[in-house]
Amino acid sequence: MKVYVNGKFYDKKDAKISVFDHGLLYGDGVFEGIRSYSRLVFKLKEHIERLYESAHSIMLDIPMAKEKLIQAVLSTLKENKLNDAYIRLIVTRGEGDLGLDPRKCSGKATIIIITDRIALYPEKFYKEGLVIITVPTIRNIPEALNPQIKSLNYLNNILAKIEAINGGSDEAIMLDHLGYVAECTGDNIFIVKRDHLYTPPQCMGTLRGITRDSVLDIARNNKIPVHEHVLTRHELYISDECFLTGTAAEIIPVVKVDGRKIGNGKPGKLTLSLMKKFRELTKKEGVKY
Ligand SMILES: Cc1ncc(COP(=O)(O)O)c(C=O)c1O
Repeated sequence: MKVYVNGKFYDKKDAKISVFDHGLLYGDGVFEGIRSYSRLVFKLKEHIERLYESAHSIMLDIPMAKEKLIQAVLSTLKENKLNDAYIRLIVTRGEGDLGLDPRKCSGKATIIIITDRIALYPEKFYKEGLVIITVPTIRNIPEALNPQIKSLNYLNNILAKIEAINGGSDEAIMLDHLGYVAECTGDNIFIVKRDHLYTPPQCMGTLRGITRDSVLDIARNNKIPVHEHVLTRHELYISDECFLTGTAAEIIPVVKVDGRKIGNGKPGKLTLSLMKKFRELTKKEGVKY
């Protein structure tokens, strides 16, 4: 496996960065998780756009034009001869000293592209649905660290994941500081109630997920009413259907939340139909390599 680091390809064992890199020392950097299907990179432009937005927000200058970075992603995929891949694109502040001051890293941003075979979630989750719980760790407050910034600092999500695992669940629902539903540790959340689709708006500390946007588009194109709406835990409990969305998970049904059965306890009809439509989209849309 070849890894791209600052314009060159290295074998996995030789792909290294400095221990003084602020991405390592402080989680000072941004990233994207992208996916390709049969040599088509799904929503590549949208991921690149979000990466540059995250970087702009933290005043991290990506020393490469967007089009060149797109080409670098595509050549990494070709180099590794991968048809279906998970792509991790990382830009760190680069090498500095042991202090926080980002000026010490000036002009040294590190660009890393790792491509690998996609580690699929067990098929059982898609057929039977996930059992998830809400956890005590709340999602970052936007005024402290805005969840729209897809930064290398994922400790907030990791703490929630640990609480989910300790509670015997594979995924956690994170609330915002007021107790409303925000999102999961690496996925967005949707519910269905009386054939309407609901998902929390961005201002609730919810990442504007690219899969979330695709689902909203599919729904609108199919005349399914959609609402970006504040959700309480109660609304999750009494929903007819619930599902999560994310690049790695795609669309995954949820059948139990905090011990409450969702709908009839099986993946819902609308969820299954959206899963099918989303998979069809990934087969035909994307940047070819
Ligand atoms: C916290 C969080 N929420 C939601 C998502 C889903 O976003 P996307 O659909 O763009 O992968 C991710 C994945 O990147 C995430 O890390």
